[in-house]
Amino acid sequence: MIKADSVLVDIRKIVTPKGPAPLLKDKLAELHVMENMAIASKDGFIVWIGPEDELTSNVEVQGNWYSAGGGTVLPGFVDPHTHPVFGGNRTAEFNMRIRGKSYSEIAAAGGGILNTMKATREAEEKDLIADTWERLNTMLTEGITTIEGKSGYGLDTESEIKQLSVIEQVDKVHAIDIVPTFLGAHEYPPEYKNDHEGYIKILIEEMLPAVKESGLAKYCDIFTEEGVYSIEESRRIMRAAKDMGFELKFHADEMTDLGGGKLAAELGAVSADHLMFVSDESIKAMAKSGTAAVLLPGTSFFLMMSNYAPARKLIENGVPVALATDFNPGSSHTQSMQMIITLACLNMKMTIEEAISAATINAAYAIGLGDKAGSIEVGKWADMAIFDFKDYNELVYNWGVNHVERVIKKGSLVYIRQQNFFNTLSGPSSGKFL
Ligand code: NIG
Ligand code: FE
Repeated sequence: MIKADSVLVDIRKIVTPKGPAPLLKDKLAELHVMENMAIASKDGFIVWIGPEDELTSNVEVQGNWYSAGGGTVLPGFVDPHTHPVFGGNRTAEFNMRIRGKSYSEIAAAGGGILNTMKATREAEEKDLIADTWERLNTMLTEGITTIEGKSGYGLDTESEIKQLSVIEQVDKVHAIDIVPTFLGAHEYPPEYKNDHEGYIKILIEEMLPAVKESGLAKYCDIFTEEGVYSIEESRRIMRAAKDMGFELKFHADEMTDLGGGKLAAELGAVSADHLMFVSDESIKAMAKSGTAAVLLPGTSFFLMMSNYAPARKLIENGVPVALATDFNPGSSHTQSMQMIITLACLNMKMTIEEAISAATINAAYAIGLGDKAGSIEVGKWADMAIFDFKDYNELVYNWGVNHVERVIKKGSLVYIRQQNFFNTLSGPSSGKFL
């Protein structure tokens, strides 16, 4: 008998990609659908998946019995690119943008990332913890069970460490797992506006060693873009980070084709993210190095850009494609992976199956968790989202709607949608007791 401390029953369907991660080319579109199955887990890991009527003859359960309420069960979403810790908000800039000002114009006038940097430097750690906590709660209601979270709004050693420390503290107590990333090279801080070499020196000689020493970040990320970090500057900073033992991620080819994708491949980065303007040369290099393309269609949408990343070309060339929200106060203020999946289908022409795999198993690969998260398989974390639909096509077809009913993280029920109350006595249910 297999021992379990948690089981999930009353499942209409399990819908899941299957590893090993990453899923490439045609494999990305392969979803496995299983009916009338139960899932058993122990110590947070799935230990048995089988027909519900065979559960008790195979599994000895001491612990919680959870019902999926007849819902459809998918792996919990993995969001491999977020900026969840920040002070203030950018609603004023958002209003300027919908009146015609561009993101770059606002940034050039001292707004944008530097606006949030100021508010984040000024914010108290306890307030940042409270706000981050709320943002993660919203993620959970959207079916997200694991994220990557970046610093990058401190731009000095103390404030960057403060952000990373917030990530660590929230990670310890919140159901969502957070993989931490140091993004000190998100912008040049105002103190070094005219002395980029000075800030690069601080980054390499002070900030990276301090972050390494603190143990607060697994990845090092950089905004490689025209007007921010050039290819040469990025190469120097990221080489230094790699030599210190960080794994690498890039914000690459978001506004222009600077060659960030190719540089990410050259340095063996785990992922290059954004890629709206990625070149064919960079795509080939990424396919060769296995560098994941983390695509962020929410950013194109929220910035009202006509350019979306060339998902089809990336998939056809064998690059591991993943999806993320890019949740941040400026360019993509959403925690909805469901909305991101919709945008991926409608604006990047991914199929629904591809988009689901990209938001789960390949997203896990893009943060080094391909063997632990992103699919419902024995040996993986028991991270599952339970949806209100019978057919997974509804996830995209009935768009802009949160379909998540319940969420299970490492075998524990961590979210349940409140019972709705409809006062519709004059409707078709008229005369029935509510
Ligand atoms: O991923 N591209 C750079 N960084 C973020 C935006 C950050 C902000 O606007 O605050 C991004 O889009
Ligand atoms: Fe980002």
